Amino acid sequence: MGERGVGWLYGRWLIDGAPRVILFDTGTAYHYLDEWKTDLWSTAGIPSPPGDHETNEAVVFGYLVAWFLGEFVVHEKSRAVVAHFHEWLAGVGIPLCKHRRIDVTTIFTTHATLLGRYLCAGSVDFYNNLQYFDVDAEAGKRGIYHRYCVERAAAHCADVFTTVSHITAYESEHLLKRKPDGVLPNGLNVVKFSAMHEFQNLHAQSKEKIHDFIRGHFYGHNDFDLENTLYFFIAGRYEYRNKGVDMFIESLARLNHKMKTSGSKMTVVAFIIMPAATSSLTVEALKGQAVIKALRDTVHVIEQGIGRRLFDRALKWHEGNELPDEAQLMSSQEKIMLKRRVFALKRNSLPPIVTHNMADDSTDPILNQIRRVQLFNHPSDRVKIIFHPEFLNASNPVLPLDYDDFVRGTHLGVFSSYYEPWGYTPAECTVMGVPSITTNLSGFGCYMEELIENAADYGIYIVDRRGKGVDDSVNQLTEFMYDFTTKTRRQRINQRNRTERLSDLLDWKRMGLEYVKARQLALRRAYPQAFDQMQSEIGFFDGTEQKVSRPLSAPGSPRDRSGMMTPGDFGSLQEGKELLNTEDYINWKLPEEEDPDEYHF
Ligand code: UDP
Ligand code: G6P
Repeated sequence: MGERGVGWLYGRWLIDGAPRVILFDTGTAYHYLDEWKTDLWSTAGIPSPPGDHETNEAVVFGYLVAWFLGEFVVHEKSRAVVAHFHEWLAGVGIPLCKHRRIDVTTIFTTHATLLGRYLCAGSVDFYNNLQYFDVDAEAGKRGIYHRYCVERAAAHCADVFTTVSHITAYESEHLLKRKPDGVLPNGLNVVKFSAMHEFQNLHAQSKEKIHDFIRGHFYGHNDFDLENTLYFFIAGRYEYRNKGVDMFIESLARLNHKMKTSGSKMTVVAFIIMPAATSSLTVEALKGQAVIKALRDTVHVIEQGIGRRLFDRALKWHEGNELPDEAQLMSSQEKIMLKRRVFALKRNSLPPIVTHNMADDSTDPILNQIRRVQLFNHPSDRVKIIFHPEFLNASNPVLPLDYDDFVRGTHLGVFSSYYEPWGYTPAECTVMGVPSITTNLSGFGCYMEELIENAADYGIYIVDRRGKGVDDSVNQLTEFMYDFTTKTRRQRINQRNRTERLSDLLDWKRMGLEYVKARQLALRRAYPQAFDQMQSEIGFFDGTEQKVSRPLSAPGSPRDRSGMMTPGDFGSLQEGKELLNTEDYINWKLPEEEDPDEYHF
């Protein structure tokens, strides 16, 4: 391929595990584009209209991958090759492998469906109408028919078709018209600290950094006690309805009302971290941090002056003298310096909602919803809002924290999604020991709901967006958040400990087993005879007969999932038997030991 002008790079990907990677430079193969598009149309009936750069990339990439696989298997004489494709963008290679009868077995995993994402973002009652959509027409109306064709072809041509959650499996069955063979839930690399409570210390450290930001952002309005302040947040791609920002803001308004009327001493600062088009940070946001820094620097200088004077006077003290008078310790010059700094904190406006200059302030859906519910950071509001329309970064001058550190410093993640095939954000919260709210329309929410009996005790709150009307779901979300504000510090600490104990559930060590099973199935489908022969030689265990060991009967144990022995439920969706040692996760159960200083009610 190199000789034919294709740019490539082979090496190790610098992430955990350092996997071997081959990259193709699609830019070096664009001279084949028209030829390949014609071929795609004649072999698979997939159109690719001009001017869609993403599709062009997908076509070039797909053809390069199929070309590579074709060449590769000619040289690979002894081992079978499993090719695993993720998402429609990588999907073009699958129908090509099939059509060219390349000697590989293929897996296609979709992490969402194109059409599902588009339909949900509009105002349709998606889940109640899934089976009735005229898929071709709907894709056509949205200008994504050709992309939809790639996705559908990939799903149908793959030897094994999977999704990341059951809810997306259901969606795929109706929108892509193939029932997935199983589910491959997303995992995380769980980092275990040697000191068990290290994550609690990290929480306190990161929270202090968020406090610093708040002091600056609310300069002149620091009339609430940071010791009694809770940080909530929502984060992710800016998909207003899909990510449930509409519901989050409405619930915050109700929470504000409830906290005011109940006379709550707490303050909630709710962050919305969602990238939107902006031109820069606002002058006000930068100024806030600057005036606080100037104040801090001045106080530091004064502090040193006072210390020096106090020391000198104490040094000169004689029997019978008064102790140094604290009122005289500050010089008049220092008083003037301090006055100047304090006057600089005066402000005639309310602390801003948004930290950046928005490209489209007047039509931005988040800002408009905030305007509608009138959460303007008024001193009387118990719920304050900060919209940070950019992903977080430690080099940001206003909120200098990486996303992970920010999450650790918060108290509660709120992800009230309407469309969320998996939902990494709440999973990431869990492994960092931060409680979160999610919905039963998210893959993660359903997965946890299925696995844990009293999930809320473990800091996994799940809002019902399936069986309830919108208003009831909003109230339920409000109630969850309100209950959270009534917890004592001790209760929050205990809950974080319990949340963090769920990490193992989300570890790739466990989730990755589903990938192994998917590959087993792909191999068996492609090479059934080789499998039958191996089976008689090695002997398999029959996966469907295994059971989850009976868990703790006490509340908090995972449900008895007899027959549903794997996180992804491959055992019940696939046919036949498999070669796998499932010991590790069959015997999984919630750790029994409780926190030594567990709070007792
Ligand atoms: N994220 C990030 N920086 C931020 C906010 C979010 O890197 O400031 C990441 C977050 O860690 C998560 C991803 O964005 O991994 C969002 O993934 P999720 O599955 O929640 O949503 P998706 O983008 O798949 O719809
Ligand atoms: C961690 C720290 C404690 C701190 C607590 C604050 O647990 O180890 O020292 O008191 O966080 O918790 P809070 O929920 O109030 O942020």
